[in-house]
Amino acid sequence: MNIIIKTKSLTKQYGHILAVDHIDLEVFEGEIFGLLGPNGAGKTTTIRMLTGQIKPTFGEAWIAGYDIIHESIKAKESIGVVPEVSNVYDEMSAWENLIFAAELYDVPRSERSKRAIELLKFFGLYERKEDKVANFSKGMKRRLTIATALIHKPKVIFLDEPTTGLDVQSSRMIRILLKQLNKTGVTIFLTTHYIEEADQLCHRIAIINKGKIIALGSPEELKTKAEEEHIIEISFSISKDVEEYEDIENQLKNLNYVNSISRIGDKFRLYVENTSEAIPIIIDFCRKNNLKIISINTLKPSLEDAFVKITGLSPEIMKIEKETKKRVSLG
Ligand SMILES: Nc1ncnc2c1ncn2[C@@H]1O[C@H](COP(=O)(O)OP(=O)(O)O)[C@@H](O)[C@H]1O
Ligand SMILES: [Mg+2]
Repeated sequence: MNIIIKTKSLTKQYGHILAVDHIDLEVFEGEIFGLLGPNGAGKTTTIRMLTGQIKPTFGEAWIAGYDIIHESIKAKESIGVVPEVSNVYDEMSAWENLIFAAELYDVPRSERSKRAIELLKFFGLYERKEDKVANFSKGMKRRLTIATALIHKPKVIFLDEPTTGLDVQSSRMIRILLKQLNKTGVTIFLTTHYIEEADQLCHRIAIINKGKIIALGSPEELKTKAEEEHIIEISFSISKDVEEYEDIENQLKNLNYVNSISRIGDKFRLYVENTSEAIPIIIDFCRKNNLKIISINTLKPSLEDAFVKITGLSPEIMKIEKETKKRVSLG
């Protein structure tokens, strides 16, 4: 796999604050990569350095092979940037915004209209192309912001908190569009403080806190890493007889590798040390006792569970948005 973004000890210091603290990242071409962390973790600062808006204090980074400091023009040509606060013009129509962006990015004149039409259609804004952005909903405005960032067909797009401040439905639509965009080959680097979003959207996630990368992997890898106890959920075709349930429960509890057991409706949850050792033993037990298995599943902790275990942070801290954070720190 090709590495399209690479950072080496990338660092940004503001006075005595290490906003970004020697981070090493490698993002592969074609992936959706998420930087997940609470407010103030260093996400925006990282994006600003990678997109050439601010200079690192220390360290290096490359985009599409170009050094972001010494080959900044080439690096910038390869990227699209969607900042946290929309940069489209309210007084202009969607169409005018796209054509204006095309001019800024030196898209050849002959291609501007074609590209604008493509993007308006892709982002579901074609019917509204003549409307002023001032009349757009937040979700529409966000979609247009992403569209303008793609006008010059960049290989990589950076999005800083692409769904923050949007309602559930608009957020969902943005995530679907980003997935579709990624399928066309665009590498996506995004930041988020929504654990769910990182889980649903990203191929790989780097968890950042206080400027440091503290965990990195696919959502499933992170969940596995945090997994201390494995859970097997199993249900049988048995009568609704309470005694029969209790009897089975007691026998299951005594099997090797089974630490404990709980019953949820018609399902048994077995907490085991090792799933691959425990499953054959459970199956064997069922066969010997003529128990017909209806379903058997292994359950993983949620990414939120994993996040809590890996970072030691409370999931509540992730739910603090910028404005409320200010209020909290005042009080
Ligand atoms: N221009 C700046 N001047 C001083 N401190 C800053 C500046 N920008 C960010 N910081 C500080 O750097 C840290 C990381 O901020 P930021 O990158 O915005 O985090 P995030 O995007 O994860 O919320 C915070 O402590 C923030 O207060
Ligand atoms: Mg930010």
